[in-house]
Amino acid sequence: MDLLKAIKERKSIRAFRPDPVPKERIEEILKLVIHAPSAINLQPWEFIVVSGEEKERLSRRLLKAYKEKQIACGPGNVKPLPKMYGKRGAKTLELMKPFFEEMRVDINQYINEGSCNFYGAPVAILLCLDDSFPNARLVDIGIALGYLVLTAHEFGLATCPIGLIVAYEDEIKDLLNIPENKNVSIGVALGYPNSNIPINRFKSQRDDLGKFVRWID
Ligand SMILES: Cc1cc2nc3c(=O)[nH]c(=O)nc-3n(C[C@H](O)[C@H](O)[C@H](O)COP(=O)(O)O)c2cc1C
Repeated sequence: MDLLKAIKERKSIRAFRPDPVPKERIEEILKLVIHAPSAINLQPWEFIVVSGEEKERLSRRLLKAYKEKQIACGPGNVKPLPKMYGKRGAKTLELMKPFFEEMRVDINQYINEGSCNFYGAPVAILLCLDDSFPNARLVDIGIALGYLVLTAHEFGLATCPIGLIVAYEDEIKDLLNIPENKNVSIGVALGYPNSNIPINRFKSQRDDLGKFVRWID
């Protein structure tokens, strides 16, 4: 039943306390994450756990790259999105707005720069995939990401998946000596939530199930 509770409670956190997360705890979480299913049990995921001064260096590099290139958080779609999706994104931002107003910060700046800094989390986990794999194996990475955010929650830790950083993959690979043939698929901020920051009170909504399901029987 803890799983059901974790599924309902978990949310992305966008302000962390600087307190370090013990390495043993991160290891414990990742040992559970790798129970995730994968096609033919290939277990294609690779985790790069960045903390301490290295995480600060990574944040500085990403912030610099963001300021130079200005590639912001966005869906990165290949075709114009059907209106429904644009509306959902806009609604989420609209619902976040009062919290950012309370914080007296610019929403776009907070999210883009915050993402580059993993929202101040002490740990950044990069989920990587060997470039020999087809894009279909991103499904496996996504499942691992799901396991990671839920397991972390179960241990009283908070997370925020960070897709923005993939736009700056070259910078990340250069800084962390990640081999050319490894793709950085997604980043995750991991740490303890800072409960004093208003945006952490925000809980995103979901449309009704009926919008997503077609029953065929
Ligand atoms: C693949 C992926 C990439 C994401 N990238 C970012 C990001 O770069 N910055 C950010 O603040 N949140 C990011 N998020 C968090 C989403 O905005 C968040 O999951 C969504 O708004 C639903 O809210 P919830 O996680 O609190 O349920 C990402 C989530 C996913 C799954």
